[in-house]
Amino acid sequence: MKNDTKKAEIKTANQKQSKIEVDNREYAECVVLRPVGYPFEFSLMDENIEITNKELFEEYARDQWLGLVVKENSHLFDQKIIPDYGFEIVKAKPNDSIISENTRIKLITDELDVKKDETRIKSNILLSDIVGQVNAKNKIKVITKYLENPEKFGPWAPKNILFYGLPGTGKTMLVKALANELEVPLYLIKATSLIGDHVGDGASKIHDLFKKASENSPSIIFIDEMDAIALHRSFQSLRGDVSEIVNSLLTEMDGISENESVITIGATNNPTSIDYAVRSRFEEEIEFKLPNDDERLSILENNLETMPLDYDLDLGKIVKLTKGLSGRDLKEKILKTSLHNAIANDNDTITMKNIEYALNTSKIKNRDIKGMFE
Ligand SMILES: Nc1ncnc2c1ncn2[C@@H]1O[C@H](COP(=O)(O)OP(=O)(O)O)[C@@H](O)[C@H]1O
Ligand SMILES: [Mg+2]
Repeated sequence: MKNDTKKAEIKTANQKQSKIEVDNREYAECVVLRPVGYPFEFSLMDENIEITNKELFEEYARDQWLGLVVKENSHLFDQKIIPDYGFEIVKAKPNDSIISENTRIKLITDELDVKKDETRIKSNILLSDIVGQVNAKNKIKVITKYLENPEKFGPWAPKNILFYGLPGTGKTMLVKALANELEVPLYLIKATSLIGDHVGDGASKIHDLFKKASENSPSIIFIDEMDAIALHRSFQSLRGDVSEIVNSLLTEMDGISENESVITIGATNNPTSIDYAVRSRFEEEIEFKLPNDDERLSILENNLETMPLDYDLDLGKIVKLTKGLSGRDLKEKILKTSLHNAIANDNDTITMKNIEYALNTSKIKNRDIKGMFE
């Protein structure tokens, strides 16, 4: 809902600003903006906003930034979106001028389109951070070599690869690391975001995605959480839009010709729920396994390095007690919960007591725990 008091305050602040500066600055005739994103990562939101009605946006932008000084290469923040969404001032005419009622505000949309699907994952995850998953890492090595020299591979190029395995085993993490280490663009789409409000939305998003990837080849397409869209035929009758998305996916995957260097990586927790025709397009299915004892130890050690408290733990014992847990469980359910438990009890050091608390409260069922004590 609109908050009039807040808006009035902002207006006054803006007017004050313009009053001070108006003496020695001209009003801007035109300002060109480029959406750049949020100032920090915000997992609940899509990285990018989509502006469909530019005229309306212009009015909205002028209204909220009225009286502000615009300097090229600085930023304006949209404070009505939380967290504030940033726009780079690409051009201000004249530079160092003030936004008035008559200032024209333009958005660069062509560049936006290219940027929109290209992951700009600013993670600093490295391939070496991923514990285990040797088969997947080997495949990544092949992909990297191929992208360095596509001609050499000819018809033997890697094309479509499916990562599958239990949740929290590192599928998304691995692709983030890949994005970090590769020079080529990586187009990421979360399958759940393809299910739009209107039938046809998902299909056209898939089409755009593949088009951009092939225009900018060599490139990689990553479709995360595939089970959400490429549902098995037996479920498709329930959802008309899903079967449309499946067909569009098939058309696009088949449309990539042999001499185009576009690699599609899909990820799913459950490959058996995926439409058979889609599944058969993947030349290789690579399983992500739960971490074994040594791997759990490494995951614990790696995560403990960043703990804000000291710790005094019997890691060998924790390894034994956490058989069957994924990397994510270890981090989120065990380490984080025990850290929070230590903080809540004003402990300076995380001890096995806190770990026990985490093991007991985590949603690991009793019957699973029984096996762990063997
Ligand atoms: N093999 C692994 N090595 C290191 N950390 C892992 C591993 N698997 C999972 N994790 C931890 O769990 C988190 C979630 O993993 P994620 O890649 O999102 O799982 P998935 O996509 O398979 O569901 C990661 O960010 C990481 O902290
Ligand atoms: Mg994932």
